[in-house]
Amino acid sequence: MYRFVTKPAFLFIFLLSVCFLSNCQYEYVEIDLPNETVLVSFSDEILPIFDNNSCTACHSNGSIIDLRRDNAYSSIVPDLINKEDPSLSLIYQYPNPTYNGHQYKKYTPYQAALVFNWIKQGAMNN
Ligand code: HEC
Repeated sequence: MYRFVTKPAFLFIFLLSVCFLSNCQYEYVEIDLPNETVLVSFSDEILPIFDNNSCTACHSNGSIIDLRRDNAYSSIVPDLINKEDPSLSLIYQYPNPTYNGHQYKKYTPYQAALVFNWIKQGAMNN
C-alpha cells in the first residue's frame, strides 16, 4: 500500500519540478526601456543618475569631468555630446554597460537609454 501511494506522489513532484524548470528556461526578465518620444528632464532624470550611481564620488572637483549637480551640464554639453550620432557621445558611451573602456560604475540599461534619449532630444538643460 505504501508503495502505491508514494510512487505516484514522487512522479507527481518530479513532473511538477520538470514543468517548473522548463518554465524557468523560457522566462526572461523584460526590461522596459523608456520611450524615445517622452521628453527627458535633465534635472529630474539625468542628474540623479550621477548621484545615485556614485559617479560623483570620482567625478567632482579636479576630475576630468565634474558631474555634481551644479557643474554637470557645463561639463557635458557640448564636450561629451555628439549630436550627429548620439550613441558616440562620451557621456552615453563611456559608462554604458556594453562599453569596456571605463571599468568603474556603469549605467543600468534603463539609465543608458534615458541618457541616449536626452541627447537625441537635443541635450537640453531642462
Ligand atoms: C572609481 C572612480 C570612477 C567612478 C565611480 C566613475 N568614473 Fe567615470 N572615469 C573615471 C576615470 C579615472 C576616468 C578617466 C580614465 C578613463 O578614461 O577610464 C573616467 C572617465 C569618464 C568619462 C570620459 C570623460 C572624458 O572626457 O573622456 C565619462 C563620460 C565618465 N567617466 C562618466 C562616468 C559616469 C556617468 C559615472 C557613473 C555612472 C562614472 N563615470 C563613474 C573614474 C570613475
